[in-house]
Amino acid sequence: TQVHYIAVIAGDGIGKEVTPVAQQVLEYAIQGVAKFEFTPFDLGAERYLRDGAILPDDELEALKSYDAILLGAIGDPRIQAGILERGLLLKLRFAFDQYVNLRPSKLYKGVTSPLSKPGDIDFVVVREGTEGLYCGAGGSVRKGTPAEVATEVSINTAYGVERVVRYAFDLAMKRRKHITLVHKKNVLVNAGDMWQRIVARVGEEYPEVTHDYCHIDAATIYMVTEPSRFDVILTDNLFGDILTDEAGAVVGGVGYSASGCINASGEFPSMFEPIHGSAPDIAGRGIANPTAAVLSAAMMLRHLGYDEIAQRIEAAVEADIEQLGSTPRSTEQVGRDIIARLA
Ligand code: IPM
Ligand code: MN
Repeated sequence: TQVHYIAVIAGDGIGKEVTPVAQQVLEYAIQGVAKFEFTPFDLGAERYLRDGAILPDDELEALKSYDAILLGAIGDPRIQAGILERGLLLKLRFAFDQYVNLRPSKLYKGVTSPLSKPGDIDFVVVREGTEGLYCGAGGSVRKGTPAEVATEVSINTAYGVERVVRYAFDLAMKRRKHITLVHKKNVLVNAGDMWQRIVARVGEEYPEVTHDYCHIDAATIYMVTEPSRFDVILTDNLFGDILTDEAGAVVGGVGYSASGCINASGEFPSMFEPIHGSAPDIAGRGIANPTAAVLSAAMMLRHLGYDEIAQRIEAAVEADIEQLGSTPRSTEQVGRDIIARLA
């Protein structure tokens, strides 16, 4: 049998509680077909507080050889904001060239949306993951003086944009065949125009896929007034960050939101993580909902080529939410319930 080597960064807070459930579901679902070998990596807040290490070079190098990375959550109120985000999460996304940040949103039966007229919400945001304002290009001069100047430069390369645009079109072909490019081309004229031209050019190769365009500010309105209009939303790194938090909220909270940071060329491992954070307020009590972690694990399966098994897990999760979504359950109980449905 084929063995898949998975690096596990459970991380902090509820990440440590939901990730083992995702692993159990994976192991159960793959049996008889292949095997997973999980290797834990001690990275995150605890490690940083213990020995000051965030992501040492040798561990980054070691991670490179895995087939995928399963990540729980990173973050701790004792650590200054930005240190682990940039030093661990963003470093992994950039080092492993995870240029597609894939974030599906679906309103499940049994979940209450805060929208009065939610309609059928089922779209996926394809967020560019390695460029834009996240590059860290820019700087500050005369810091702390009244003459201080701070710049953040958004880097958009034709190469980087084209590859994520192609990914979005390929994905649209497997869905309802519609792409909405979200940008702010009326103000960010250089990057916006380039994104638009690349979408138009690549779109010619996909005559079945329709595409339209929406400014980011208008997109945030449509997301609450008419989210069913979206199928594939294609956007840059920062717009995608903001829009996917809103997307999580309209489908009833980020507790159901999975994500994949994907190196679609296959050169480096891709990373799968729930969108929610480490939730220190409920950590340690065994009550965190592992649904998003399980759905992220299903995304990992799909990435590894197990489409059918991924679908089975998603169906089990969907049924679980519909029937038991509003019943208070422990983290482990939700895992057992999902596995029982797979049986
Ligand atoms: C996310 C997070 C990260 C991001 C932070 C923690 C750096 O908000 O995954 O959406 O901005 O990408
Ligand atoms: Mn975010």
